Amino acid sequence: MKIAMVGSGYVGLVSGACFADFGHDVVCIDKDQSKIDALHAGIMPIYEPGLDALVESNVKSGRLSFSTDLASAIQGASAIFIAVGTPSRRGDGHADLSFVHAVAREIGASLKNDAVIVTKSTVPVGTGDEVERILQDSATTAKFEVVSNPEFLREGAAIDDFKRPDRIVIGTESDFGQEVMREVYRPLYLNESPILFTSRRSAELIKYAANAFLATKITFINEMADLCEKVGADVQDVSRGIGMDGRIGAKFLHAGPGYGGSCFPKDTLALLKTAEDYESPVRIVEAVVKVNDSRKRAMGRKVIDALGGTEAARGKTVGMLGLTFKPNTDDMRDSPAIGVAQALQDAGVKVVAYDPEGMEQARPLLPDVHMVNDPYAAITGADAVALVTEWNEFRALDLDRVKELANAPILVDLRNVYDPAEVRAAGFEYVSIGRA
Ligand code: UGA
Repeated sequence: MKIAMVGSGYVGLVSGACFADFGHDVVCIDKDQSKIDALHAGIMPIYEPGLDALVESNVKSGRLSFSTDLASAIQGASAIFIAVGTPSRRGDGHADLSFVHAVAREIGASLKNDAVIVTKSTVPVGTGDEVERILQDSATTAKFEVVSNPEFLREGAAIDDFKRPDRIVIGTESDFGQEVMREVYRPLYLNESPILFTSRRSAELIKYAANAFLATKITFINEMADLCEKVGADVQDVSRGIGMDGRIGAKFLHAGPGYGGSCFPKDTLALLKTAEDYESPVRIVEAVVKVNDSRKRAMGRKVIDALGGTEAARGKTVGMLGLTFKPNTDDMRDSPAIGVAQALQDAGVKVVAYDPEGMEQARPLLPDVHMVNDPYAAITGADAVALVTEWNEFRALDLDRVKELANAPILVDLRNVYDPAEVRAAGFEYVSIGRA
């Protein structure tokens, strides 16, 4: 089957490469000539483990190609995916659908064969209806069906998530739509991945509800962590203790500096806007957004407290380990590290940072943070070390060396990577999340 993927960003490129790997004939399309040129040269526009090898092998086998010419690239495709960005609209938090609508118009202008048009971008409820209207108003005489197929890929684990999904959600009530989508996902269907067919609007809402629920789970355990610190309990135990209840589940109950990334912050805001438009408030999600927003700077204050408070902290240096919103990505969008660094700098603290992949993206966002090329260089001369992102290379630091290089043996672990007893035994003052 021929598949066209419009938008060769994170979602489009990973999905396109995986579909090609399933044996489909895939063309990934993007307006950005430099991105397509780079892909032709084997250079990935994003950092995602395993993606370069997957792209390379499928390009070699002739199943994956790239193009900037939408009109000719979609010819003969039975499924045309729309996987362009839906950023938060400046000023109001609504999802910006201008790219999605523009692609729909372009498809309408050049569609010649029967096809299913699939929205894979995260789009608010009702977007599929609008895409359908755009196509109906276009010149095409081909038979088409607009289907919603949200993605549930995590950055850093996207290929595995794609190939071993918990479920595939397909929003269409038409036989034609279902038939084509079954064929698209046939290899996963044979692997017994559950496929859930729903109405298009339900599928659109499932995506937002899933992300909002996960954001809520994280925020819940983060607030429990704060309470643990006050009452003398251990959030790791509390998390384990509730997570073993099958109704609650252990995943996404890891306390930390707050969620970030390109999805949870944007999607929770967009869900609030949809709820507002339909006069059906989602107050839990409203609270989650507020709590998470204030948490990032609060984490900066935690580091300041470890330095002995505002007065003592002024003029001191913090060595920051990790900048990206999570490990195995170079993505800095809404990373807690931004709030932490800014709170420190506002208090007159100098920040020296190291991140294995994120420094290039971080530089424009944190111009006053001094970036170095090695974790131990960030630690050298620091009055406190703050572990902000749990990259593997920070999980087993040589604590004796850290103590030797740092100005003072203070470790603030915002990801609970270390065992408090062990770090204290090594002579550190150790501060973590939700552990007395
Ligand atoms: C998230 C969802 O997990 C994916 O299912 C979804 O497809 C994606 O958004 C999307 O909508 O495109 P992602 O943003 O890549 O994926 O990252 P996550 O692994 O979900 O982490 C999000 C944030 O939550 C990170 O800042 C992470 O550090 C934080 N987190 C996660 C915690 O603080 N605690 C946890 O227990 C889990």
